[in-house]
Amino acid sequence: MRVLIVDDEEVLRDVLETVLQREDFDVVLAASGEEALSVLDGDDAIDLVILDVMLPGISGIDTLRAIRISNPQLPVIVITAFSSIDGAIEAMKHGAFHYIPKPFKNEEVILTVNKALEQRRLSRENERLKAELSEKYAYSNIIGKSESMRKIFDLIRLAAPSRSNILIFGESGTGKELVAKAIHHASPRARNAFVTVNSGSLPPELLESSLFGHMKGAFTGAIATKRGLFEVADGGSIFLDEIGNINLETQAKLLRVIQEKEFMRLGSVETVKVDVRIIAATNADLAKLMAESKFREDLFYRLNVITVSLPPLRRRREDIPLLTAHFLEKYAEENKRKVKEITPEAMRILMDHSWPGNVRELENTIERAVVLCTSERIGPELLPDYLRFPVQTEQPAMIVPTDGLSLKDAVSRYERTMILQSLEMANGVQKKAAELLQLKPSTLNEMMKRLGIGTRASANVEDDEVVAGTSS
Ligand SMILES: Nc1ncnc2c1ncn2[C@@H]1O[C@H](COP(=O)(O)OP(=O)(O)OP(=O)(O)O)[C@@H](O)[C@H]1O
Ligand SMILES: [Mg+2]
Repeated sequence: MRVLIVDDEEVLRDVLETVLQREDFDVVLAASGEEALSVLDGDDAIDLVILDVMLPGISGIDTLRAIRISNPQLPVIVITAFSSIDGAIEAMKHGAFHYIPKPFKNEEVILTVNKALEQRRLSRENERLKAELSEKYAYSNIIGKSESMRKIFDLIRLAAPSRSNILIFGESGTGKELVAKAIHHASPRARNAFVTVNSGSLPPELLESSLFGHMKGAFTGAIATKRGLFEVADGGSIFLDEIGNINLETQAKLLRVIQEKEFMRLGSVETVKVDVRIIAATNADLAKLMAESKFREDLFYRLNVITVSLPPLRRRREDIPLLTAHFLEKYAEENKRKVKEITPEAMRILMDHSWPGNVRELENTIERAVVLCTSERIGPELLPDYLRFPVQTEQPAMIVPTDGLSLKDAVSRYERTMILQSLEMANGVQKKAAELLQLKPSTLNEMMKRLGIGTRASANVEDDEVVAGTSS
């Protein structure tokens, strides 16, 4: 690291030089503002400037202003006489964020220099991430640099222009809808409609009437003839979200639209012809549903011409910093906040979390932190407690927070979570829960009493088994 010291007093220059050289810094000296500027002109390897504001010739403040213009990212530490706080305030206005009051202690200098350089490192890292965002690690507005996401980008690029139906798999919050939209927008259908159907949340009759439309009087409440979403999406794409939840009857009708490219409105005998590309998504295990005869195999093969499998965020942790930078920028702008970066401690917490809610959970976490942030940096204190003090169930990625914790409480919390979880998995049957945890039932029972895990009578328990909370 290379530091430029600008001071007209030789003694001070010497002191600073010695202090910094002892810390392995490479030091360059200048005795005036003019000299400093010409050094900076010819040497772009300087990482930091220490500048006395009281200078002969052009003033320290003018020098600072000139550096800000020619070299906006270069950190400058201003040295100012203890009495002249005004000078410090003036310097701050011109973009020096650090100052050392005179007289100073050596440790103070080193501390401030390291702080300024750390900040510089962070801003650089942040810039690098931003550059990555704008360059290659995004497709449409899907962000990712992991191998698995890059494969997805390639797949979208190849598949989008075709007419093939597409099936997208992925846990909740992995970006299924985002990918569906990206495919539509990269296809020749982009100028026509992209229609989203929330297949999972509608009762079957309502789903059918919204997909296929209905004639006036087709059912009670059908007061007027209505076009279905397949007609709205003609020439475009239809996104069938949560396809695994569609009932068998509607599945048969869907199959017909796919095969014949035609359908009938409810209550009508006339067929309507449409040209619609189907993009379906699910986080259900369709193979299992097919084995249980809850999902038609023929429909599956018709939809699953091209499969996009979105990996959960915990399997591509290297995308977390990039996504974080993306959401930081997005929400800072939306909320008019000046927050620019996230501290290394906070990033470590994000990297350690398992993100069951995937990218959506990360997005919500960053949005919240940005809204609560009153400075330029997001620290751990702006992250929700469940991230900061995790009771990890998946893997032992545990963190001692900077202000410490009670190990006993943490262990109890961990035990509690594990026991509650296994009781749930065992439908409240203690004997089974004990087996899952490889404990004797009596040990589990004792622990439950100690941890105050209470009564929860379960409905579906076999007679001879012991239910959580009922005394054995
Ligand atoms: N790779 C990504 N890059 C940027 N933003 C993403 C990415 N993946 C997901 N998101 C964002 O996360 C949120 C959730 O994404 P989306 O709604 O597409 O997920 P989903 O898989 O459809 O979830 P669900 O199953 O819960 O419906 C959205 O705000 C989306 O913009
Ligand atoms: Mg979705």
